[in-house]
Formats: sequence, structure tokens, C-alpha cells
Amino acid sequence: MISIARSASAKHPARPGLLGLLALLLTWLLALPAAAEDGYDLWLRYRPLPAPVLKQYRDQGTQLVAPADTATQRAARDELVRGLSGLLGRAPALAAQARRDGAIVVGTPASLPQLAALQGELEGLGEEGYLIRSTRIDGRAATVVAANTDMGALYGSFHLLRLVQTGQPLAGLDLREAPKVKVRVLNHWDNLDRYVERGYAGESIWDWHKLPDWLDPRYTDYARANASVGINGTVLNNVNTSALALTPMYLEKAAALASVFRPYGIKVYLSARFSAPIEIGGLATADPLDPAVRQWWKDKADEIYRTIPDFGGFLVKANSEGQPGPQDYGRSHADGANMLAEALAPHGGIVMWRAFVYSHEEPDDRHKQAYNEFVPHDGRFADNVLVQVKNGAIDFQPREPFHPLFGAMPRTPLMMEFQITKEYLGFATHLVYLGPLYEEALRADTHARGPGSTVAKIVDGSLEGHALTGMAGVANIGVDRNWSGSHFDQANWYVFGRMAWDPHAGAEDIARDWARMTFSTDPAVVEPVVSMMMGSHQAVVDYMTPLGLHHLMGRGHHYGPGPWVEGGPRADWTSVYYHRADARGIGFDRTASGSNAVGQYAPPVAAQFGNLDTVPEEFLLWFHHVPWDHRMASGRSLWDELVLRYDRGVDYVRGMRRTWAALEGKVDTERHHQVAVFLGIQEKEAKWWRDASIAYFQTFSQRPLPEGAAPPPHGLEYYKSLQFPYAPGDGK
Ligand code: GCU
Repeated sequence: MISIARSASAKHPARPGLLGLLALLLTWLLALPAAAEDGYDLWLRYRPLPAPVLKQYRDQGTQLVAPADTATQRAARDELVRGLSGLLGRAPALAAQARRDGAIVVGTPASLPQLAALQGELEGLGEEGYLIRSTRIDGRAATVVAANTDMGALYGSFHLLRLVQTGQPLAGLDLREAPKVKVRVLNHWDNLDRYVERGYAGESIWDWHKLPDWLDPRYTDYARANASVGINGTVLNNVNTSALALTPMYLEKAAALASVFRPYGIKVYLSARFSAPIEIGGLATADPLDPAVRQWWKDKADEIYRTIPDFGGFLVKANSEGQPGPQDYGRSHADGANMLAEALAPHGGIVMWRAFVYSHEEPDDRHKQAYNEFVPHDGRFADNVLVQVKNGAIDFQPREPFHPLFGAMPRTPLMMEFQITKEYLGFATHLVYLGPLYEEALRADTHARGPGSTVAKIVDGSLEGHALTGMAGVANIGVDRNWSGSHFDQANWYVFGRMAWDPHAGAEDIARDWARMTFSTDPAVVEPVVSMMMGSHQAVVDYMTPLGLHHLMGRGHHYGPGPWVEGGPRADWTSVYYHRADARGIGFDRTASGSNAVGQYAPPVAAQFGNLDTVPEEFLLWFHHVPWDHRMASGRSLWDELVLRYDRGVDYVRGMRRTWAALEGKVDTERHHQVAVFLGIQEKEAKWWRDASIAYFQTFSQRPLPEGAAPPPHGLEYYKSLQFPYAPGDGK
């Protein structure tokens, strides 16, 4: 379109009808929906603000005072120039001093003498915090972003840009921000051959083969996106890792990535295979108490820090799902973690030791295993060890009660592990905003030290007085143009970062910011989008695993329903182990009369979950085996309620489709179209989950469907016959 206009004016510069033609063209352009977008820019789109929003920034951001002497300072200044130019439609003038009202002034007392007066106010903001304030600098009204460090100033710059992106006024600002959690990391489950375990966004963005020489510009955009939400670390390789990741060749590649990420405050970490001393070290054992093994790890740590001076440390999956670990030598998790911690300590590195463990011998209830293995070692882990605990005791199910380890290891810092990639939540095509799931887990009250002992307070260290704190998110990032496999999955990366920065933040506020930055500042777009997002987690729970059901998906790949899955290598990899449906009822009895997993919670929580009258309905079948005709709060029988929940989930997806369809023309065509098609897939699959589950459970309940509920269109055998040998992301 632009080229047509250009050639027209070049060929017929003075033609009388030209103005009219241009006017027509303009009218036509204005009538078009916003230009197509492929999602690459994530929430950092910086498209021009609409005129009514723009008006309020008329006098602001015309000048930018921001030193650019260090790489981090340059990152901040470049981002501000890029962002303000795009949003306000004019590049700010770079200046050494504010010469007019409305300048934006960014720096530290060390980098900008003008900010020296703020020194006292920066106390308590630490190395990553910042303040944003409307004040006077050099006698002029200015917006100041000030911090103790360049990194704080970069985080503050992103915050300032967010304010403009979301249309907030810059007048009268007085904000102070510092992260509440220290280690905020993505965990990439990326293999060295670029296969991403549980990845639904294409292959790994780490092009190991071309590293260290080719530094894909995408690495910088990855760092920008992470820094914009406060993520300060990345574990590059899968927890099920090859020891090769620790060989010199790969360390050099990791160092190249670290050099791209460094200006953005992002440290590189690696998953370490516990048996590496044997596999790449030539030792006969990996016993953590063997002096030669200990020396091998010390030498390895020295080598790593020679290559990557600010290396973050190791993430370790040990004695879980067949991975090697200290128990292979009769040693404990603490023995294993402390050996690595000792090697990293002189360099300031940390160990993130995962509590997602379950042994070769099947326990009576997998739910109990991590607690049983870890609680006896509370207080025995070295100071630079964090124990990394999944939000629930089973495995990133659509909904789980909080993990009983939270609150049960007061002398050990526990970091949260959330999954951002949607292994159990419909892969990339289902619109499921994970903010409410994260919020629910973080706000859960463990009662460990009386009421109000929330998981968030354990994760941020405030309840138990830990300085080393962390949150990890299993990344949903791949080479897809839109990074996450779908436009809405970008929101899950975004909300993870924001909640890692502040585990007390609200999912809805974050969704609103994201929607404004990603789609439009128009409330007619933002509000419907936020409302779709906020109900989407409950919807997926409803159509997949309502009322506390869990682990009912297809075997291995975890795609689609598989409540009939049974047999195979171990019972706790089947569905029947978890739902226990029979003629009498359904659900896993985890009360004192069953596995007593409920006994791992603090007494008030155990009492609540363990009692059929007080257990929240969303966890009913997680903790109880309940008769089909049990009366629910609604007055319906359990069976009728179950069917109703499935239907409610499918209906919600239908509602999202309608809401989204009504936004046509308000969101650019390319993204609108893909979301619309994906919602169609989601509806089809939600219905498939509902139909297959009802067809299966009805063979036990032997009850008719409640009035108005449609019978599944196929018989059970049909659903059972479906095979998906090439479903993406399966473990290898
Ligand atoms: C799940 C997932 C695996 C992964 C494991 C883990 O079981 O399916 O692919 O390796 O979690 O967290 O270690």
C-alpha cells in the first residue's frame, strides 16, 4: 500500500485528481483493521498509542537523559528510545541534562550526578530495585528512574515503558519497586539436539550447532523480554540432561549466550547430570562422598567459572524418573546437593536441587514421596542450596492442592517450580491463562506458623527468614515466530516473570497489563480479553479434570483424555491409579483411612482436606473416594455434578469463541485469525475430553446423564482407539 502511494506521487506529481485519490486511499487505510502482526514482538510492541491516550504525553518524553557508558546502560537507553519513539511517534532527544520540562532522566547516583540528591531514598532498594518519580531536575519538571545499579535502572526503564504502553499518566508518580524473590529463573527443558521436552512452540531457540560464533539476534530479544518482567536467570538445558552439556565445547557455547544476556542481568545456569564424573570424567563412580568425585566437581566448577565468570549454578534432577543420583550410592539428597554446593560456593554459585522425586520402588501413594524423602533432611542442606518444589505433589496437573513440602522444611529455602509450558493443559492451542493457577498456589495457606502462612511467604523467605529465595518456570519458548506456540501463551511467560518478581501480585492486574501491551489499550478489547483469560483456568479444570480428579491424560505424550490408561511399567504412571473409579464411587482416598497423604499437611489443613464435609469441592476427589450419589453443595449427586462440570468447561470455551469473534476488526487480522482457529481447536478438544470422560466413567457409575446433558456421540471404544504417535513434546 505504501509503495502504491509512492509510485503514484512519483509518476504523476502534479495531477489534479491526486489529492482526491490520496484522500480515498487514506480513508481506505483507516477503515482497515490494524496491520497484521505475527506476535514476535511479544508485549514489547511499542505501536503508536491512539490519539486520545497519546494526548496526555504531549509534553513528556521529548528529552531523554540516560548515560550509555556500560552495556546495561546502553540496553536501557536503547529500549527507551525504541519504546518511546514507537509509542509516542517521535524519538526523544538525547541530552546530557534536562533542558525542558518533561524530560525522562534515568540512571544511578554514580552514573548521573543530577541524581545524587536521591541517594538516601534508594536505600532499601538493593541491587535490582528502582524508584520512579515525578520531580524536578535541574529546575525542570522531569520523570526520574533512579536506582543503585545499572540493572535497577534497566528494570525501572521497562516499568516506565509499561506505564506508557498501558496508557498510565506520568504525572504525580512515586513508585518504589524491588523484587521480593532473589532467583527468578526460566527452566528450559531443551535438549542439545534442539528437541524440547514438553515443548509446543517448535524446536529449541538455542542453536547449539552454530554457537558460539553465530549469535542469533533472537537471543537479545529473549533477554529483553525476560528483563522486562524481571527474570534474572535461565537454565539452558533440560533437567533430563546429557552430561555433554558440561564439556568444554558446550561450556563455550553457553558462555556465548551468557555474554548476550549479561547486560540484561540474566545469569546462565546449567542442569547437571549427577553421573557426569563417570560419563565425561572417566571416574568409576559418582558417589558424592568419594573424594575423587568431589574433586572432579570442584575442578569442573573452576573450569566453568573460568569460561563464564558470572555463572549462576546447577539445577539437578536426581533419583527421579530414572535419573542418576546420590541414592544410587546409598547417600541422601542432602549429600548430593551439598557436594555440588561445595564446588560452587567459592564462586558464589548456587544449587537448585529438585524435590520432584519418586523412586523405582512404587510407593503406596506417589503424593507422599517427596515429603518422605526430603523432610528428614531439613536443615542439612548447605547455605547455597535451594530445594526446588513443584506447586503440587503430583505433577503440574490442571489443579493441585499446594505441595505439602511448603511449610514442612522451615530450615531449608524452598523455591517454587511452576510449569509455563502447558504439558497437562492442552499444549499450545488451548487458551489457558496460568495467572489464576499461580495465584491460587501462592496464596494457599499452609498454616505452618499459624493462619496466614501462605506459600508466597515461604517462597519469598519472609515466613522462615531465608535470604536465598527463588522461583522457576518451565519455559514455553521455542523457535515459533510468536515464541510460545500461541499468542495467548505469551501471557503465561509474562505472568510467571511478574509473579516471580512479586509472588503477592494479582493475576488479574497482570492480565490487564499484558492485554493492553499485547493487543490494545482500548477497554472494549482489554476487558473482554481479561475476562476470557481469568475464567480460562477453571474452564480447563472443568473439561479435563473436575472436582479434584487428576492425571487422566493420554500415556506418554499427555495429549487428550486417557482415563482408561492402565498397566505398563508402573501403576503410578496410569490413570486408574489416580481416579480409582469403581461401582461405588470415584476418587483417591488420601485420608487416614487411605494413604493418609493428608497427614503431611499442617493439622488445620489436614483436618480441612481430610474431612468430607469441609474439603473444598475443587479437591474433593483428590483426597476422598466418594460415592456416586454423594450430595454436593449444589444439592446434585456427585455424578450429576461431574457431568455438569464437564459441560460447564466446554460452554466456557464456546463463550470465549463468541467473545473473541466480536473483537474482529479491533485486533489485527493475523493474530485474530490464529486465536480464533485455536479456540476452535480448543472447543473440539474440550468436547472430546468431556465426551470421552463421561463415556468412560459412566461404565462405573451406571447412572443416566442428568437432564439436558447430551450423550457422547461415540462409544467408549472409539475414544480408546485414538492414537497419537507423533504428538509433540513427548519425553525422549
Ligand atoms: C513430568 C514430565 C517429564 C519431566 C518431569 C520432571 O513428569 O512429564 O517430561 O521430565 O515432569 O519434571 O522432571
